[in-house]
Amino acid sequence: MIEPSSEWQQVDHPYFSTMRMAELISNEVERFPETKSIADLGCGIGAQTFYFADKFRQINFIGIDYNEQRISTATDLNVKKGLKNLHFISQDISTLVGVEKSVDGVLSIHTLCCFKVMETFFQGILSARPKWLIVNSLFWDGPLDVLVHIRDHTNLTPDEYVDSDFNIFSKDRVSEYLSKSGYATSFLPFYPPEPLPVPLNGARGTYTVKTDWNAHTQFSGPVHLPWNFMIAEAK
Ligand SMILES: C[S@@+](CC[C@H](N)C(=O)[O-])C[C@H]1O[C@@H](n2cnc3c(N)ncnc32)[C@H](O)[C@@H]1O
Repeated sequence: MIEPSSEWQQVDHPYFSTMRMAELISNEVERFPETKSIADLGCGIGAQTFYFADKFRQINFIGIDYNEQRISTATDLNVKKGLKNLHFISQDISTLVGVEKSVDGVLSIHTLCCFKVMETFFQGILSARPKWLIVNSLFWDGPLDVLVHIRDHTNLTPDEYVDSDFNIFSKDRVSEYLSKSGYATSFLPFYPPEPLPVPLNGARGTYTVKTDWNAHTQFSGPVHLPWNFMIAEAK
């Protein structure tokens, strides 16, 4: 899904979706001015976390990822960036302990879609009772969850490598689950402002096609990618 090179590109050149996420964070900080700390779940090498921590200097950011190598890279990169309001920890999102107790807001980019069961993603962080969550992932309007695993024959990775998953969750089911936990949920579809070209030879990579939904509807290979921002606020 997110090729390592794509993450690296974003360290110094934020994507439009990252800037859109920053606008949404700004809205939540305005609505919940007591927001003092934000966790980025599945932060990878921190490509987007750096952007947010730089933009919101008054807030403490914690980047969380279970991949120790990525966390070590993120920590090294931050020595160069010098952001004092940001640190990274290696931990499994589904079994978060400790840090979540002090988190006021939660963001996550392209990580919920790596989970086969959406409850596993949410259960740990919800025990912290954050005031708000913004999750950029794949969501569908109907009563369907769809599990998609890409097997790239030019660059084989084990089928257990969950970063190759594009799992799509039902908006209604997510809303119902979060409502039971005390959150009101809404969704904002995300389409890139510019068209993206089809990769050569049918290779993996996001491209756009004009459809009745939008002129820049996103696909990767044969898979439609209904990217949305999910926004959940404590009721
Ligand atoms: C597709 S990458 C997204 C990285 C980054 N947010 C981005 O958009 O560039 C998904 C990230 O989630 C992490 N991840 C997946 N499952 C996880 C889990 N159970 N606990 C912690 N991190 C997890 C992976 O290690 C990976 O860095």
